[in-house]
Amino acid sequence: MSRYWLLLLLGIVPNAFAESQKASVSRGEYVFNTGGCASCHTKDQALAGNVELVTPFGTFFSPNITPDTQYGIGGWSDAQFVKAMREGISPAGGHYYPAFPYTAYASMPVQDLIDLKAYLDAQDPVSQPTLPHDLGFPFNQRVLLGVWKFFNDVDPWLANPNKSASWNRGSYLVNGPGHCAQCHTPRNIIGGLQSGVGMVGTEQGPDGEKVPALLDLTQAAFGAWNIDDITFALEVGMTPEGDFLGGSMSHVLDNTTSKMSPQDLTAMAEYLYSLNNP
Ligand code: HEC
Ligand code: HEC
Repeated sequence: MSRYWLLLLLGIVPNAFAESQKASVSRGEYVFNTGGCASCHTKDQALAGNVELVTPFGTFFSPNITPDTQYGIGGWSDAQFVKAMREGISPAGGHYYPAFPYTAYASMPVQDLIDLKAYLDAQDPVSQPTLPHDLGFPFNQRVLLGVWKFFNDVDPWLANPNKSASWNRGSYLVNGPGHCAQCHTPRNIIGGLQSGVGMVGTEQGPDGEKVPALLDLTQAAFGAWNIDDITFALEVGMTPEGDFLGGSMSHVLDNTTSKMSPQDLTAMAEYLYSLNNP
């Protein structure tokens, strides 16, 4: 190879790499929003964790997911990150608690997760240790989570070839990264989702609050909303009756749905509408 070509390559390759890295970070930011990561990992400092998640099993403290190498996930490889997000397994081989909704993130394409990690890596590291979870026996026994996993299968999201691309995008966002079922579907006694019944709402949502049904075939409440009502509520946080959505849904509005593209909002609304208008 002539010297000329070598010099050209030395210039272009790093530049092309920097460009593709930048594109990955910006795609990753959108993936981050669709996954609502800030709702659980940002308290005072972005992504530094220690958000308290109160459940019937005790209180979880979300970990620091900044690129800090001591307290965050700075030293992780892409493969370790993908395994954590899709299988709920830590780099040390331990099982994560389902308070981390990896069962929903399991449906995310690997490339989206790699972009997401590029975005996380580009944020400021925060040197702050994560508080230990405060769980009663036997829930404090992490090894039992292997048994939990056995009883709570992850159903990866699959496209429905009989539906439109937009419907499928909506279904993916709701059931995958948006993890809407994590609050809108009731749980069984070991904390698994009763996926069979669908998003019928629950009296015992996060912090013991009531979560309304999104699957409402009686069309008495949410089931009566049209596609525009749903899109508007997800974007602005106001119901057709003029009430503002609050509680833990306000985090979903702030961190996820208000940051989605108009196409993605309509896609989710189209999917949610179809649940009640089969
Ligand atoms: C509903 C709350 C919640 C949401 C939403 C959430 N997480 Fe978490 N996450 C947790 C909890 C709680 C843990 C700790 C689980 C454990 O200790 O077993 C955790 C653990 C993690 C870990 C493992 C960290 C470590 O040090 O081992 C990573 C990585 C992570 N989350 C990334 C994300 C990303 C990226 C998103 C968005 C796509 C996200 N999380 C969304 C609650 C959440
Ligand atoms: C962290 C828990 C949580 C998650 C995750 C969540 N929701 Fe909610 N949602 C709630 C709560 C609580 C309410 C009730 C808010 C109120 O009445 O002020 C609610 C209300 C709603 C409503 C209004 C329904 C009605 O009849 O008034 C819609 C629509 C909705 N959520 C859609 C979604 C979608 C779509 C997702 C996923 C992108 C989602 N939610 C994820 C907790 C959650």
